[in-house]
Amino acid sequence: MEVIICKDYDEASAKAYEVMKEVISAKDDATLGLATGSTPIGLYKNMIKDHKENGVSYAKCHSFNLDEYVGIDRNHEQSYYTFMHENLFNHIDIKEENINLPYGDDQAACDAYEKAMDGYKIDIQVLGIGANGHIGFNEPGTSFDSLTHIVDLQEKTISDNARFFNNDMNLVPKKAITMGIATIMKAKKVLLIATGANKADAVYGLVKGEVTESLPASILQRHPDVVVVVDEAAASKIK
Ligand code: PGA
Repeated sequence: MEVIICKDYDEASAKAYEVMKEVISAKDDATLGLATGSTPIGLYKNMIKDHKENGVSYAKCHSFNLDEYVGIDRNHEQSYYTFMHENLFNHIDIKEENINLPYGDDQAACDAYEKAMDGYKIDIQVLGIGANGHIGFNEPGTSFDSLTHIVDLQEKTISDNARFFNNDMNLVPKKAITMGIATIMKAKKVLLIATGANKADAVYGLVKGEVTESLPASILQRHPDVVVVVDEAAASKIK
């Protein structure tokens, strides 16, 4: 695991893009594993800028996102499908038919997503990390053997996300579909970005803690190619 400590969010985003660019420069038909959340937005801005200014192309790339809510339409303003289009896909030249997000509420949808990914092999998987060490929607306690599955969102996640749903917890989806931990571990390379002091404990667990299902991201210590890009605040406990 390589850990790169940056000054702040902007520097971390630029560094994360360097890691991403190395992959797409070496392989113009790379398969990208992508994530939502506030963390990767800076990375996506760098991807968009380099595409617009220097023509870096995603025309041959495929993408697979980590997760999606269950129970709201893809075109809902808060779906991850919408998030990805607004924050990345609409601004680069990736083809709509090459974009994949999990969608559905049953085992068949999960199996189909695994099968689709197996056909490509993810060259680089972008990850954020939750303050509790979650990756994707894999909360503490999720089996390291898990593949794409349906999860019940924790009460805390539902209340945290209510701000995006008119502050009405009843409107927040109660379930999600997510790549599992074993799915994420299949990626050839993992790029995990974490910024802010509230991530410092999770980053400690990720880099230096025991490998335990209580901190899902700790499994990445066993992955052969992981780059962790953090800012000073998130790195405060590993220095
Ligand atoms: P964030 O979420 O990027 O919005 O902090 C990260 C995560 O929960 O995986």
